[in-house]
Amino acid sequence: MSKNTLVDVKNLSVHFPVHGGVFSKRVATVKAVDGISFSIDKKQIVGMVGESGCGKTTVGRAMINILKYISPEVEVGGSIEYHFDDGIVDFAKLKASEMRKYRSRVQMIFQDPYASLNPRMTVAQIISEPLQLHTKMNAKEQRDRVGWLLDKVGLQPEQARRFPHEFSGGQRQRIGIARALATNPDLIICDEPVSALDVSIQAQVINLMMDIQDEFDVSYLFIAHDLSVVEHISDKIAVMYLGDMAEYGDAQDVYHHPRHPYSKALLSAVPLPDPSRKNRKRIVLKGDVPTPLNKPSGCAFRTRCPIAQPSCAESKPEFKEHAKDHFVACPIVEKKALNL
Ligand SMILES: Nc1ncnc2c1ncn2[C@@H]1O[C@H](COP(=O)(O)OP(=O)(O)OP(=O)(O)O)[C@@H](O)[C@H]1O
Ligand code: SF4
Ligand SMILES: [Mg+2]
Repeated sequence: MSKNTLVDVKNLSVHFPVHGGVFSKRVATVKAVDGISFSIDKKQIVGMVGESGCGKTTVGRAMINILKYISPEVEVGGSIEYHFDDGIVDFAKLKASEMRKYRSRVQMIFQDPYASLNPRMTVAQIISEPLQLHTKMNAKEQRDRVGWLLDKVGLQPEQARRFPHEFSGGQRQRIGIARALATNPDLIICDEPVSALDVSIQAQVINLMMDIQDEFDVSYLFIAHDLSVVEHISDKIAVMYLGDMAEYGDAQDVYHHPRHPYSKALLSAVPLPDPSRKNRKRIVLKGDVPTPLNKPSGCAFRTRCPIAQPSCAESKPEFKEHAKDHFVACPIVEKKALNL
């Protein structure tokens, strides 16, 4: 942790109980996130990648503390310590009533711009809602702020009177960005913000988000499937596998010199523009990600890992610093630099 740390996540776990039978007894637990640690500095972009179902959205929801609204029985462990200018707060321990004061500091942009905007509200109502809830702005100040925000995201202030269905997917995502920015947050969780958009629009929206990050000095947790996007925009990359953090470190270091066998496999599938690296070996993983209802013992990746050893079944690998600020959860690659 540095003096610039905005949020320090330590040993975060998110478990969802599963009920069954006539008496609706607890029969199992979905270990969606199973003890992960990483941090995000002020004005930093951390890219988070991993296959579908590995827990990325759940991490994002935990970090804005909305899981209890989605699933009241959820069990959240560990800490999510925010270092705000006026003090340190652990979101994993805050009650809903105590959370109110901090809601405006951390915002989220969602994957589906069609589902995330209320179709019955005008753009002005959508963007001014957080202003009404979290600021003391009067109606005129709110109107001015909405117009200013629309201009910042490349829309016309006159479009404030329109409804979401009158906009394209890319424009709706711009409205979502304006809403997230309304209260000047310290962190925005961007949950695959461009994956539902046409490829031709994706770059425009990413460029806008980068300009905004620079202008507003905000930090992003940028969740994505596309590793090449994450490499370009992130300062750090976090690789998730089945609720665990496989690797976390400087973006260029993780992208060009991945250490964990899962990161190596993910990255080997990314097409490379650099011709000198075109003959890099593609690592094809066997099978699908197992269910978090029944995680393999020891290292959760061992059922698909090309270099798994019998000892990998025994205990969960420690998430250790292999090089400065570069953390990896694999004792085997720590011992010797293996050539996969
Ligand atoms: N409210 C919930 N109740 C029960 N299980 C849940 C809940 N939310 C998520 N899960 C489970 O937790 C696991 C992680 O889900 P999550 O949506 O975080 O993954 P993801 O990495 O965001 O996947 P994707 O890339 O498909 O968006 C999945 O197995 C999912 O089914
Ligand atoms: S601990 Fe074992 S199974 Fe897990 S990634 Fe390392 S070598 Fe593979
Ligand atoms: Mg998701």
